[in-house]
Amino acid sequence: MLAPLLFVWPISIAITHYIAYSVAGFPYDQSLREQATAIGRKVSFENGKPRVAFPGPARAMLRADELDSVYFHVLAPDHKLIAGDSELPPPALATPVEEEVGEVYFRDAEADGRDIRVAYLYVAEPGMPRERWLLVEVGETLEKRAQLANKIIASVIVSQFIIIPLAVVLVWFGLSQGLRPLTRLRERIESRSEGDLAPIAAPRVPEELQPLTDAFNAMIDRLRQNMEVQRRFVADAAHQLRTPLTGLKTQAQFAMRESDPQALRHALQQIATSVDRASHLVDQLLSLARAEGSENTQQTLSPLDLDQQVRAVVEDWVMLAIDRQIDLGFESGGPGITILGNAFLLRELINNLIDNALRYTPAGGRVTCRVLADDESARIEVEDSGIGISEQDAAHVFDRFYRVEGTGIDGSGLGLAIVREIADLHDASASLGPNRAADGSPARGAVARVVFPRHRPAPPPEAPSPQQQRSIPLPLA
Ligand SMILES: Nc1ncnc2c1ncn2[C@@H]1O[C@H](COP(=O)(O)OP(=O)(O)O)[C@@H](O)[C@H]1O
Ligand SMILES: [Mg+2]
Repeated sequence: MLAPLLFVWPISIAITHYIAYSVAGFPYDQSLREQATAIGRKVSFENGKPRVAFPGPARAMLRADELDSVYFHVLAPDHKLIAGDSELPPPALATPVEEEVGEVYFRDAEADGRDIRVAYLYVAEPGMPRERWLLVEVGETLEKRAQLANKIIASVIVSQFIIIPLAVVLVWFGLSQGLRPLTRLRERIESRSEGDLAPIAAPRVPEELQPLTDAFNAMIDRLRQNMEVQRRFVADAAHQLRTPLTGLKTQAQFAMRESDPQALRHALQQIATSVDRASHLVDQLLSLARAEGSENTQQTLSPLDLDQQVRAVVEDWVMLAIDRQIDLGFESGGPGITILGNAFLLRELINNLIDNALRYTPAGGRVTCRVLADDESARIEVEDSGIGISEQDAAHVFDRFYRVEGTGIDGSGLGLAIVREIADLHDASASLGPNRAADGSPARGAVARVVFPRHRPAPPPEAPSPQQQRSIPLPLA
C-alpha cells in the first residue's frame, strides 16, 4: 500500500500548488481592481481632451509596498503615455475589441523582467468611438501572492507529513490484525502431520475464512475417500494374488518330492494352470486400473455403431464357445444404433460379459448377445442358460472381488467391477439379474444388461419439401 501512496503524493502536491495560487491571487486581484478604478476616476475630459488629475502624494501611496513593485499608467489611443510609468508594457492590441468602458479586466505580463499581474480599464466620454478610449493600467509584481500561496502549500504539506505516517501505521496495524486469522490458519495447516486428513475444525475459524475452509475440507474429504478406496484395492489385490502364489508354492514343493515322471508331469501341469490363473488376475487388475485411469476419456468418446462393436467381439468368442459346446448367438438391432463411446473400453466391457456367460454356463447351454434400442437409449444384453444368479447376489456382483460362493468356477471377482467402471465412463448403467422368459416367468440362467444413452448425430440441413420448392416465385425473364 506504500507504493501507490508514494505515487499519489506528488499528484496531491501539484493539485495543492494549483489551488493555492488561485486562492492567493483572489484578494490581491481585488485590491488591484480598486486601485485601477481609483485612478480611472482621476481621468476627466475637457472639450474632448483628456486630463489627468493625479497629485504626487497619491502616486507615492500607490508605490507604498515593501514587497511588491506597483506600476501604473494612463495611455492615449495610440499607446502614447499620458501619465505614469513607461516600464509597464502596453497591451498587444491598440484598440479595445470587446471590453466595455468602466469594467476592470486582468491580464498577466512582464515588467523589468519580472512577472506581473495587470488590472486595466477603459475611460471615455459617452458616445466616444472605441479608437479614442483611454486606457488605465495598474500592474503589480507577484511577491505577496507567492508568499501567501507558499504558506498555504506549506500548511497542507505539513499536515500531510503528520497524516500520511499516521495512515501508514493505522493501515499496517489494521492489515496485520485482519490477516492474523489467515496466518494462524496457515500455521495450523503447516503444523499438520503428513497423514492427517482431518477436516479443519469450524469453531476456531473466523467467519470470513469459512468458505475457504469449507472448500478445503470438501477436498480433503474426497482425498480421504479416494485414498481409502485405493488402500482397500491394494489390500484386496494383494490378498487375491497371495492365494494363487501360495498354491503355486505348494505345488512346486510337491513336484520337487516327486520322482515318478508321470506324477511330475501332472504336477507341472497344475503349476501351469495356476500361473494362467494368476496372470489372468493380473490382467484384470491392470484393465481395471486402466478403466479407472481413463476418467478423462470423456472428451475422446466418439460416435460408435453399437451393433458392429458387439458383433465383432462375439465373433472372437465363437471358437471358444464351440470348444465348450455352447451355442453362442448374436441378434442384431439393425443399423444406425449409435452411442458415444471408446471402442477399446467397450470391447473390454463386452468381453467380460461374454466371458462370464460362457464361464457360468455348462456344456450344452446357450448364450445370446443382442443389441436393442429405443428413442433415448441403446442397450446390450447377454443372456445365458447357465447356473443363474439370485437377487441377493445380483446386488453385489459388481463390487470388486465379490464372488458367489460355491459355484466351483475359477475367477477373480473383478470382471463385473471392470464392466461397471467402463459403463460409468459412458454414462451407462450395468446390471445382472436372473433370466426371465418372454412372458415374465423365471427361466434358466442369467441376463446381463448395459444401457447407454443413445447418440443422435445432428441431422443434415433439411432439403426443402416439394411444396416449399413450388412456392418460391419464379423470376420472370
Ligand atoms: N452370467 C452369469 N451367470 C451367473 N453368475 C454370474 C454371471 N456373471 C457373473 N456372475 C457372478 O458374479 C460374480 C462376479 O463376476 P465377475 O466380477 O465377473 O468375477 P469372476 O467372474 O471373476 O468371478 C461371479 O463370481 C459370479 O458368481
Ligand atoms: Mg468374470
